[in-house]
Amino acid sequence: MKTEDLPLQSEQVAKLIDAATSAAANAYAPYSGFRVGAALLLMDGTIVTGSNVENASYGLTLCAERSALVRAVSEHGLQMRIRAIALANLNTASSSPCGACLQVLAEFIAPGAWIVFPYAGRLESRRFTELFPFPFDLRESMTS
Ligand code: THU
Repeated sequence: MKTEDLPLQSEQVAKLIDAATSAAANAYAPYSGFRVGAALLLMDGTIVTGSNVENASYGLTLCAERSALVRAVSEHGLQMRIRAIALANLNTASSSPCGACLQVLAEFIAPGAWIVFPYAGRLESRRFTELFPFPFDLRESMTS
């Protein structure tokens, strides 16, 4: 079994959720009041976090997932791949990843990656591909 196919251990999930919750404390969400944190577990074991950063021009808001992703690429390079993602919010609410974030994350996702998020009062743990099976892939269409 390849590393990325191993299900996450409960200690790993707890550590990632903790990291995501700490990141949510740094969210800048004066407009929605919805404070989100994301923690990415990279294949090399590093955890990279991000939080949502809103803007008065609402459409410029960055979700927590994309904040974490740009940080991971900038700090760890183009070869880095994400083994797992955990999400948390400080609003005791469901927070599944939005479609825009799934599309952006898809380019750096390791095969078999997991995503863990609060939903309807409990933690859901799903394969990334289950949530987003058919990302738009320009590289694919350019080689054919
Ligand atoms: N938000 C995230 O950070 N991640 C998501 O996947 C969905 C929404 C943020 C964006 C905005 O600052 C707030 O939650 C309310 O939409």
